Amino acid sequence: MDKLDTILQEALAAFAAVDTVALLEQAKARYLGKSGALTELLKQLGKLPAEERREAGAEINRAKDALEQALRARKDAILELELQRQLASESLDVTLPGRGHGSGGLHPATRTLERIEQLFRSIGFAVAEGPEIETDFYNFTALNTPEDHPARSMHDTFYVEGGDLLRTHTSPIQVRYMMNHQPPFKVIAPGRVYRVDSDATHSPMFHQVEGLWIDEYITFADLKGVVADFLRRFFEQDDLKVRFRPSFFPFTEPSAEIDMGCVFCGGAGCRVCSHTGWLEVGGCGMVHPNVLKHVNIDSQRYQGFAFGMGPDRLTMLRYGVNDLRLFYENDLRFLKQFN
Ligand code: FA5
Ligand code: MG
Repeated sequence: MDKLDTILQEALAAFAAVDTVALLEQAKARYLGKSGALTELLKQLGKLPAEERREAGAEINRAKDALEQALRARKDAILELELQRQLASESLDVTLPGRGHGSGGLHPATRTLERIEQLFRSIGFAVAEGPEIETDFYNFTALNTPEDHPARSMHDTFYVEGGDLLRTHTSPIQVRYMMNHQPPFKVIAPGRVYRVDSDATHSPMFHQVEGLWIDEYITFADLKGVVADFLRRFFEQDDLKVRFRPSFFPFTEPSAEIDMGCVFCGGAGCRVCSHTGWLEVGGCGMVHPNVLKHVNIDSQRYQGFAFGMGPDRLTMLRYGVNDLRLFYENDLRFLKQFN
């Protein structure tokens, strides 16, 4: 019984020393558990003479009550402490500076299309659109390219079920526009086009801008003037080199490819321009009388030119990007540079 007071003091000190519920449970087990110090004392009651047993038992039980009360109080205190700790860790300082929010920007391809539209609107061109899934008729036949025409193999076409196709150029918009309007008119038609094609300057989905000007006295000289002037304004370079290289399209006669001086090598030749010093940015020509016939325009009275440019190439040249595929990978590190 001499030990009782010591055990009591030790237990109270042990409870006060811990500050988590788990540690408190361990301390409780050391004194009140199955083989705890106080429990051991109780077990030894039987060894005492009968007359002392009763008094000693009562005293041990009082000590036990005192410990249990101390335990409850300590547990409440610890829970309160843990709550305070949690609140402190979750509190937020509303006076700290905010993270800010990232702002998006227009895709470089979109910027180029908007710039092209704006430049052509400023010289009186209207803007038209057409469907990306086209029929064979509008994409080829009406453009003087019948079924067995070898020029069809110039375009590696994606076909969709049912025989329709993803338009391989924006020229079908010319046909749709001419069927619904009476000349004179001048119009551009920007849009996405698709071909089975992929390398540094070819992408399976890319953009074209079609141009069309039909009136009574429109000549190849007007075509050269409009295209060269557009390119010089687009690149803000009055001495930009532009050349018209004889070529073939079934829907124009005569036809030409539009080349401009390569801005990467200044004309010396590099990977981007296939070591020619020139980059092809479009095709053009005088609209073929057969095309006018298909859309019921009198080819004796009216004539004009059409062109189809690749604005993605123009974007590469304007921003000095040497691989077309970068525009369609949507890597934010690349796109952020245009914000
Ligand atoms: C045509 O598509 C004709 N429809 C252009 C035309 C319109 C001629 C009206 C006459 C009258 P071409 O296949 O050459 O032509 O393509 C025109 C331009 O699109 C090319 O000069 C090039 O700048 C761009 N282009 C062609 N294929 C790709 C491609 N896979 N990726 C990116 N740009 C391309
Ligand atoms: Mg071409």
